[in-house]
Amino acid sequence: MRDARKTAERLAYLSGFGNEHSSEAVPGALPHGRNSPQRAPLGLYAEQLSGAAFTEPRAHNRRSWLYRIRPSAAHPAFVRADNGALRSAPFTESVPDPNRLRWNPLPEPAPGTDFLAGLWTLGGNGDATQRAGMAVHLYHANSSMTDRVFSDADGELLIVPERGGLLLRTEFGLLHVDPGHVALIPRGVRFRVELLDGDARGYVCENYGSPFRLPDLGPIGANGLANARDFMVPVAAYEDTEGPVEVVNKFCGNLWRATYDHSPLDVVAWHGNHVPYVYDLRRFNVIGSVSYDHPDPSIFTVLTSPSDTPGLAGVDFVVFAPRWLVGEDTFRPPYFHRNVMSEYMGLIEGAYDAKAAGEGGFVPGGGSLHNMMSAHGPDRETFDKASAAELGPQKVDDGLAFMFETRWPVTATAQAAQADHLQRGYDDVWSGLERHFRPSH
Ligand SMILES: [Fe+2]
Repeated sequence: MRDARKTAERLAYLSGFGNEHSSEAVPGALPHGRNSPQRAPLGLYAEQLSGAAFTEPRAHNRRSWLYRIRPSAAHPAFVRADNGALRSAPFTESVPDPNRLRWNPLPEPAPGTDFLAGLWTLGGNGDATQRAGMAVHLYHANSSMTDRVFSDADGELLIVPERGGLLLRTEFGLLHVDPGHVALIPRGVRFRVELLDGDARGYVCENYGSPFRLPDLGPIGANGLANARDFMVPVAAYEDTEGPVEVVNKFCGNLWRATYDHSPLDVVAWHGNHVPYVYDLRRFNVIGSVSYDHPDPSIFTVLTSPSDTPGLAGVDFVVFAPRWLVGEDTFRPPYFHRNVMSEYMGLIEGAYDAKAAGEGGFVPGGGSLHNMMSAHGPDRETFDKASAAELGPQKVDDGLAFMFETRWPVTATAQAAQADHLQRGYDDVWSGLERHFRPSH
C-alpha cells in the first residue's frame, strides 16, 4: 500500500481535455506517419479502440490507437459472472418514486472486498443496450484488486472518491485520484483499482450516453468553469506479465469474465483522444452573481453528456465548490424549486449550504435523490437563518458537494428502495416551515 502511494504521488501526466494525446513507455514504440504499419514497431500489435462511431463528426469523434504486446482479441470465451450488487438499466425492480429520498453511507463491506465487488447500484435510467441514460453506483472497498481487471462496455465511469485515495492502473497508464478529485474511465477501457489508504468509499456515475465533454461557455467567454488544461491524462505504462488474470467485462447489464494468460494492461504506446483522465475539483473556476440572486446551478457544470436535444443533457456532473456569496437582497442558499430534471446529490466532505448538518442528515458518503418535479430546497433551519442573515460577503467553504443531474427520473434498485441505510422520515426536513403570509401590514 505504501508502495502504491509512492507510485501514485510520483506520476507524470499529459494535460488537456479532448486533446489528441500520444505517449510511449519505450522510445520508438509509437509508429510515425501512419497508425497501422505493415509491422508495428518493436514487435507490438496495433489495435484501434473506438469511443464514437467511425463516422461521427470530427468534433465528437473519439478513438485511440494502442500498441500492445498481445492484441485484445487473444482471449478465451467469456462466461457469465455474478453481478453482485451491480444493477443496470432498464431499472424495473421497483416503480419510479416521486418521493424525496436520502441515504446514509453504505454499510461496512466484508473483509477482502475490492472496488469491483464493492460496487452497489442505487438506481438509474435509460437503457444500457440503447447507449442512453445513466446509473448511480456507490462503492465501499477495503482491498485492492489483484489479478483481475474490469472494463465497462455499457458506458464510461466517472469515479468520485469520498474516502481513501485510489491508484488506477489502466491500459493507457496510471492515474492517482484522491477525494476532491474525480477520475474518468472511458467505455471499454480495462483498469485495476488499488487502494492507497486501506479503505475507499465513493460514488460512480456510469454514463451510457454520449461521452462527457466540457460544457459550452456562451457569454462566459473563452475561459472559466473547468479549464481544459486541468484535465490530466496518463502517460503510457505497461505490464509485461504472464499468468492468469481475470478480465471482468460489464456488457448489457451483466458481468462476464474470462481468464487471460497475461495482463491485458500491456499497452506500450498509444495515441488518440479516447483516454482516461483525472481532474481536481478545487481547480473549478466558480462563477456566480455579483449583483443579486444567484444563477441556476447549471453554472457549476464540470462535465456534460449532451443528448440529441440542444441544451438537454443525458447527465451533467455538477460541483458545489468553495465560493464567495455577495448577492444583495438575495436569499443566498439554493432556492426552493421543482425541476424537470432529476437530481442525485452526494457529499465529498463537510456540509452543504442548503442542509444543516447533523445525525442522519446529508453526510459525506450519503446521498439524496430528488426526482423530476419533486419539491425541494432549504430545510427550515437554513431558511430561517438565511432569511434573517446580515448580508456581507460570505465565503462558502465548509464542504464539497456534487450532483449527477439527469434528463430522466432515476428509478431506485430494490436494494436501494429497501436499504436499512435509507433514511425514513426525510420529508421531516421540510416540516415546520411556518406560514409567514400577512395579507395586510
Ligand atoms: Fe435541486
